[in-house]
Parts: sequence; C-alpha cells; structure tokens
Amino acid sequence: MEVMFDDSLITGNDTIDTQHKELIDRIAAFVSCCERGDSKIQAIRMLDYMDEYTNFHFAAEEKLQEEVEYPGIKEHKAKHEEFKGNIAELYEFLDESEGPTEQFTETVKKNVVDWLMYHIKSFDRSVAEYINMRDSADRL
Ligand SMILES: [Fe+2]
Repeated sequence: MEVMFDDSLITGNDTIDTQHKELIDRIAAFVSCCERGDSKIQAIRMLDYMDEYTNFHFAAEEKLQEEVEYPGIKEHKAKHEEFKGNIAELYEFLDESEGPTEQFTETVKKNVVDWLMYHIKSFDRSVAEYINMRDSADRL
C-alpha cells in the first residue's frame, strides 16, 4: 500500500498541510515496517515515531481552532481523541503479540491510514475553509 500525500489532501491552510505531509511520511514509515513484518521492537519504535508527531499535530490544530474560535472545535477534538484511542489499541496489540501480523497491518490501514485520509478531507478541510472565510471577511 502506498501511503502518500497528494493533491486531494490539500486543505489550503499552509500550516496544516505542511504538518500533514510530515505526519503522512511517518505513517508511511510505520505501514512499511508492518508490511515487512519487522520485529516487535522496531514496530513499537515506528509507532512511537508516528504517535509523537500525531500528538504535536493535533495539539497545533486544536490551538489554531481555539485562536479562530472555530465553531466545530468540540466535535473535532472528539475525532482526535478517537484516533488517539485507535493508536492506544495498536500499542496494546503490539504489547501482547510477537510483532506486526497481517491482521494488525489491516487494522493499521483502516484505523490509521483510511481514518486520517477521511479526517483530512472532511474535518480538516472545514477548518481551513472557515479560516479562509474569516480572513477574507476581515479584509472587507
Ligand atoms: Fe484534525
């Protein structure tokens, strides 16, 4: 599976888009590690690498939403919590297993890759559109 940032993921907000590129790079590294069936230690290391940037990125996005008083912030934060829960489940699985299995990799694709792609195209795009609208209203 190729996990890559492409034009369909552009929200129009430079900060968000730049961070999404980094996050997707880290997710791609984790997915490759799972697909290769790397060791448990390596998989946990790559999950840490991804998780670290996820937390940074979600915090940045939430701060941005607070600054612009985005009306959908509560629902958006709840979605971020859902994703964090998905990651916590991946940690639990790795903890209890020998390493990444095929089934685990499928779960990663669904709960990390597909989840994020959809989130970017819907939730994050709405934030970017709101900021754009707000900025152009300010210029009037
Ligand atoms: Fe988001």
